[in-house]
Amino acid sequence: MSRLIRIFDTTLRDGEQSPGAAMNPDEKLMVAKQLARLGVDIIEAGFAYSSPGDFEAVRRIAQEVEGPTICSLARARPEDIDRAWEALKGAPKVRIHTFISTSDIHLKHQFRLTREQARERAVEMVTRARGYVEDVEFSPMDATRSDVKYLYEVLEAAIEAGATTVNIPDTVGYATPQEFGRLIRGIRENVPNIKQAVISVHCHNDLGMAVPNSLAAVMEGAGQVECTINGIGERAGNASMEEIVMGLRTRKDFYGADTKIVTEEIIKTSRLVSKITGMVVQPNKAIVGANAFAHASGIHQDGLLKEKTTYEIMRPESVGLGKSTLVMGKLSGRHAFRQRLEELGFKPTKDELNRAFERFKRLADQKKEIYEEDLEAIISEELQTIPETYRLKSLYVESGTDKTPTARIELEIDGKVVQQTGTGDGPVDAAYRTIAAMTKTKSTLVTYAVKAITGGTDAQGEVMVRVEEGPKTVTGHGADTDIIVASAKAYLNALNKLIYWKSRKDDAPKIHYI
Ligand code: KIV
Ligand code: ZN
Repeated sequence: MSRLIRIFDTTLRDGEQSPGAAMNPDEKLMVAKQLARLGVDIIEAGFAYSSPGDFEAVRRIAQEVEGPTICSLARARPEDIDRAWEALKGAPKVRIHTFISTSDIHLKHQFRLTREQARERAVEMVTRARGYVEDVEFSPMDATRSDVKYLYEVLEAAIEAGATTVNIPDTVGYATPQEFGRLIRGIRENVPNIKQAVISVHCHNDLGMAVPNSLAAVMEGAGQVECTINGIGERAGNASMEEIVMGLRTRKDFYGADTKIVTEEIIKTSRLVSKITGMVVQPNKAIVGANAFAHASGIHQDGLLKEKTTYEIMRPESVGLGKSTLVMGKLSGRHAFRQRLEELGFKPTKDELNRAFERFKRLADQKKEIYEEDLEAIISEELQTIPETYRLKSLYVESGTDKTPTARIELEIDGKVVQQTGTGDGPVDAAYRTIAAMTKTKSTLVTYAVKAITGGTDAQGEVMVRVEEGPKTVTGHGADTDIIVASAKAYLNALNKLIYWKSRKDDAPKIHYI
């Protein structure tokens, strides 16, 4: 019998700390609903005290998402614990996760607390949280650089005060797998009341060790792993959920442990998170990268044709990567369209459905076969999560071997239609320069990436961009069978997000750790 490891997803909290990945409450809710379908045990929905937007996201997720336990992060401060409770109250399964540093480096230079004071704060805040909820998690931040005896004492005191999960963060991604495994064993052997709590781990990827460290901890008795979809998160990111889950599932024989994750939902979740955060998944990324199941070498292909297990340790279908499913055609009606979207987990409003259906009909005219991925691209663009200050009305681009690329663009700006023509070094550059002039943006385009959503030359192109203005970074996403149109949409989506976040200055989560 395998041990069941709890999956604590922190895509919406630590994942959101990736530059440019900020999500608004609507977007977070969409991701949270997909995480529930994926079968995660706990969703860390945000840091309720950090901003009104994060508070609203935690509250709505706690009220509307069924299945997982919903958690809010809280510093070891009374106002944070109270705010977390306010956001969570009334929901059926909730957790407060409070934390304070235990390493001397943090205590001396950042928190300016003695060890004794930090331990007292931990105890007081766990006690306060237990006054509100049964399920309390405590994290000694920077645990891997803390004095181990002091760490044991703080954990014992936190459990004594009522912590039901103790989470061991490798905050700066410093540990090695052997060392981290030993630390978990040490905690099991030296914290007298450890059996009253679940040991959790939270590893960062600065040295590329987040997944190996987490799995080493599972080997030593950790019962919960904190991770994010696509491994997004602060700096180099967190342990990637899909790697942890598929590592445990594929090597159950070795780890003797498994999770409750519905692995067939992995690809869908990865794509949704990538689309909403604008964080592109590298092609060679394990499990969810475009090449993860693509065999290029002749010898491998030959082996696979003879017997799949020659070179395949996981079936692509097991992560939801079966052959792209042909979903609909030109003659499909609105009713069937809505039903298909609902099966994919989307519940559009009447307006969103009308717009998406119109786009679907146009796409069906251009492209014979429409796949699930095409529908996802259409609907995730049409679900209105960010107000559209700028909307693309039309775009014509002329370019060729002997022609200066020229773009003529019509935009609706705050309801008024404006038109402008401009040139550039290539068709995308011409479109982008023209849009920049029309919107008078002061931002800079930092990255631009394009990929085909499905196979074939009639596939929709998907463009992701990253745009910066001062300290603010946002990402944008667009899809169309014409990649110049997709590019323009992605750029406008990013500019709309910039305006949105500037107008809600106080709403972007601010992460202060002390
Ligand atoms: O990395 C870290 O230490 C954290 C804590 C807040 C758990 O994210
Ligand atoms: Zn973290």
